[in-house]
Amino acid sequence: MSGSGFGRGKVILLGEHAVVHGEPALAGALARGVRAEAAAGAAHLRVAAWGLEARPDGAAPVDRAFAAILAATGAGEAAVTADAEIPVGAGLGSSAALAAAVARALCSDEARVADAVAASERIFHGNPSGIDAAMALGGGFGRFTRGGGLERFAAAPVRLCVANTGRRRDTGALVAGVSARLRDRPAATAALLRAIGALVDQGVTALREGRLTSLGEVMDRNQAALAEVGVSCSEIETACELARRAGALGAKLTGAGGGGCVVALAPGREEAVLAAWRAAGLEAFAAEVGFQHGSQ
Ligand code: PMV
Repeated sequence: MSGSGFGRGKVILLGEHAVVHGEPALAGALARGVRAEAAAGAAHLRVAAWGLEARPDGAAPVDRAFAAILAATGAGEAAVTADAEIPVGAGLGSSAALAAAVARALCSDEARVADAVAASERIFHGNPSGIDAAMALGGGFGRFTRGGGLERFAAAPVRLCVANTGRRRDTGALVAGVSARLRDRPAATAALLRAIGALVDQGVTALREGRLTSLGEVMDRNQAALAEVGVSCSEIETACELARRAGALGAKLTGAGGGGCVVALAPGREEAVLAAWRAAGLEAFAAEVGFQHGSQ
């Protein structure tokens, strides 16, 4: 048993939270992700960058996810080491990227790999939408709705700046907070979520047509709506403001918010944005978003 595999991270460019309530979201695969190597040996998974170890007989979610991947790929025993280029638990699809990398290191049948990633994601996220798995395996851009799944569309990849606020967040609690707001203030909150959905469709059109200034404006308006819905925090607002002052066309949280990562669209100004973030002590990188599988 020996092989290597790669799984991509993802960003939600627009539409998080509103997507839970039936609106569309726009997601793109990151050129960055997780790379795994498998060798013969006692079943074991190690991701040094995340300080993570797993064994298939363990009880932690990562142990059970590794066991599910071994079972779905039919790999039996294998010792797997993984290198991660994205932070863990920060909204960049780390669990799906890891599962895709490990499954591909163990198995060359992409149908089995997809089953393995889905099984692993169910262990981590209960009832996942599948958006992270689709991005980890296939890349590209997609417009996603809960009812309709992922519709991929063609658009030139864009370079995005990504900063990790370093603040830990709890996706479940943030999603529950939006639902509570919808119960307490139904008309205003529903209107905000619908407005986010409309922004997503404007953003999809802007991206397809390569109108990055419009996409940046839409990102800023989406961030303002997310703040109104209650899922931003001071670290996110500061990081977005630093990016805009350094020349970004738009900046927003990505994923659940409440901490985690921020993305900024800053063509030609990436180095200035990264420098501003790093000067503020944030871990940051620039990466292509929207690569198709096999095009890296
Ligand atoms: O932070 P992440 O990658 O778990 O993204 C959460 C995205 C939400 O829209 C807030 C929840 C969801 O299930 O879509």
